[in-house]
Amino acid sequence: MEEKKTSTADILAKIRAQKAAAAAAPETPVSPPETPAPVAAPESAPIAAAAPAPAAAPGPKPTSTKDIMAAIRGGGAKPAAAPVASTPAAVTAASTAPAGTPAPSTAAAAGPKLSPQEMLQKMREAKAAGGPAAAPVAAVAKTTAPVAAPPMPAKPVAAGKAKPAAVRRGMASFATVACISAICFVLGYLFGNSLLIAVGALAWGALLSPFMAAWAALASVGGIGTLGIARFMFPNVLVEPPSKFKVGPLSDYPLNTVSNKWKDQFGIWVVHTDQYEGRNMIFALASVCTHLGCTPNWLDGEQKFKCPCHGSGFYMTGINFEGPAPRPLERMGLRIAEDGMLEVNKSVKFQEEMGQWTDTTSYVEVV
Ligand code: FES
Repeated sequence: MEEKKTSTADILAKIRAQKAAAAAAPETPVSPPETPAPVAAPESAPIAAAAPAPAAAPGPKPTSTKDIMAAIRGGGAKPAAAPVASTPAAVTAASTAPAGTPAPSTAAAAGPKLSPQEMLQKMREAKAAGGPAAAPVAAVAKTTAPVAAPPMPAKPVAAGKAKPAAVRRGMASFATVACISAICFVLGYLFGNSLLIAVGALAWGALLSPFMAAWAALASVGGIGTLGIARFMFPNVLVEPPSKFKVGPLSDYPLNTVSNKWKDQFGIWVVHTDQYEGRNMIFALASVCTHLGCTPNWLDGEQKFKCPCHGSGFYMTGINFEGPAPRPLERMGLRIAEDGMLEVNKSVKFQEEMGQWTDTTSYVEVV
């Protein structure tokens, strides 16, 4: 035979019945002898009849612990259907009481106030009586069953450890443009190139904002124009070596030798020879070929000047003897200065074919 499961409503109904029975006993001496019978009959009979029958549980079930506790406190004076506190329950009980029945006092309507220990005791008694408390206990056990812990939220990434990709790309672009700007500045400064400086300024302005880039471009154009005007104020000046210069004493030039010492600096050879007309003299020859103006070389082994352009050859004296050169090399003015040094004067030239080599200012005779 299957045992019927007792619900919380059944337990409450039993408790109310017990409370009603307890409340009815003290009221007997107060009420007239006739009234307790009719009063007790309508209240106790339906409740007692309803107690064993689960189907007799009136109204909705209590929905919270507060409701259950209120029902326990309300006792038998409160209808089982009342899910609210004792005061409305008392009002409802008064309204449903038969006429002629004395209205229950507030204390009677609310029932004796129970302490938590008393309530627990009553719960135990109800459980021991029919075992209906197993359901609530089971329910409590269910509610107290360990609940699966919710998953831990993802740990947020610490700021500064990882940066968004967009931020990294922005920083890379900034560094690249900054490097280009710096390189342009440095190269422009080193090589004096104003265009590179302008590009560097433009790139640096672009780093800040388009507005700054526009101002940088405008300033660059203005700066280039200003530099151009300043350069125009300083015309080109060709700095040439002086036409007169000293080449040292006579002793620096042995007989029958050609000195290349001043060729690169002043474009002359200093020749000491006695091969021209048998006279021991020193003179200065221009290192310019009389053919088309190339620079010949002195070949000491061959004792001649040789032009690399078309092969013209000249003796140590400067007289042409081979190649297309039409005439001898030219002499420069030469004299002994007041300090005893040989002084060359390139502002005057002496040509052999013109008979100018006989001029005493074209050579220095060594005695
Ligand atoms: Fe010297 Fe022609 S330029 S031989």
